[in-house]
Amino acid sequence: MVPWRDRAGRLSWLRMAVLAALAAPAAWVAWKYANGMLGARPANAAVREVGLWMIRFLFIALAVTPLREGLGWTRLLDVRRMIGVAAFVYGFAHITLYAAQESWKLGFVAAEIVRRIYLTIGFVGLVGLMVLAVTSTDGWQRRLRANWGRLHRTVYAIAILAVVHFFIQSKAQVSEPIFMMGLLVWLLAVRAWPRRARLGGVALALLGAGAAVLTALGEAGWYAFRLGVSPLMVLEANFRAQGFRPAWGVLIAAGIVLVLALVNTGWRRFRAARAAA
Ligand code: HEM
Repeated sequence: MVPWRDRAGRLSWLRMAVLAALAAPAAWVAWKYANGMLGARPANAAVREVGLWMIRFLFIALAVTPLREGLGWTRLLDVRRMIGVAAFVYGFAHITLYAAQESWKLGFVAAEIVRRIYLTIGFVGLVGLMVLAVTSTDGWQRRLRANWGRLHRTVYAIAILAVVHFFIQSKAQVSEPIFMMGLLVWLLAVRAWPRRARLGGVALALLGAGAAVLTALGEAGWYAFRLGVSPLMVLEANFRAQGFRPAWGVLIAAGIVLVLALVNTGWRRFRAARAAA
């Protein structure tokens, strides 16, 4: 099956749009590389940019669950697989560019993966993602039956490894990995929400606020532990305009899903009332 056609073989605009959006960052990085726009160490910049897109796509694939449950957008399930496979393809490009950066000395690359813990963690995550990409087809889903769901739930463990890899290699500038950690806490909380209980507006708001508070506390704890900075000072910085704050990022992301869910519920009720009148 070609990726731009749906299961019934029809041309799908949603699939085509998603495919274009998935390919765009790769084309952009390639264009910048070809035009000397990646700075003094272009290979390293390409490794980083592709790695960033990989983790973003991984998180977007994970976000399909709250979007489907909060908004009832079941069509998103159709493209989740594509986004997950794209995350793996970017991961493959990430490690390939890393090997290119090291002049294709594959022995050295392998030794580095064993020696450096952030590379070991990233490698385990990438191998895990490869297993999920290979078994993402309908054929494998049929073959593995109930085990398919179990296997594919390991994507949350892979996301944890991805964030830890991102976090360790970030050294001093940890705002974005902390934001990703907070998002992951929120995604895990939404995933763990009991199936019997409806994931309504109040639940979404509480989970979003809880994840944002934990993000702020995690950030304060990290700076206190690593640099000895007063946790109160870091917490206070959330209320002063000082660039990107991870906790606000988590709150805004969860808030967007909440607003969309509320608009969607209101619209459905309005349509049901109109149909009944
Ligand atoms: C789940 C798998 C992985 C994910 C999600 C991932 C993601 C990332 C991200 C987000 C960055 C930081 C980009 C930035 O700071 O701008 C990064 C950096 C990096 N990653 Fe990965 N990565 C993964 C696996 C790997 C593997 C398997 C390798 C190589 C063996 C690798 C090698 C690197 C290197 C060399 C850097 C740049 C470090 C530096 O220049 O300081 N990554 N990765």
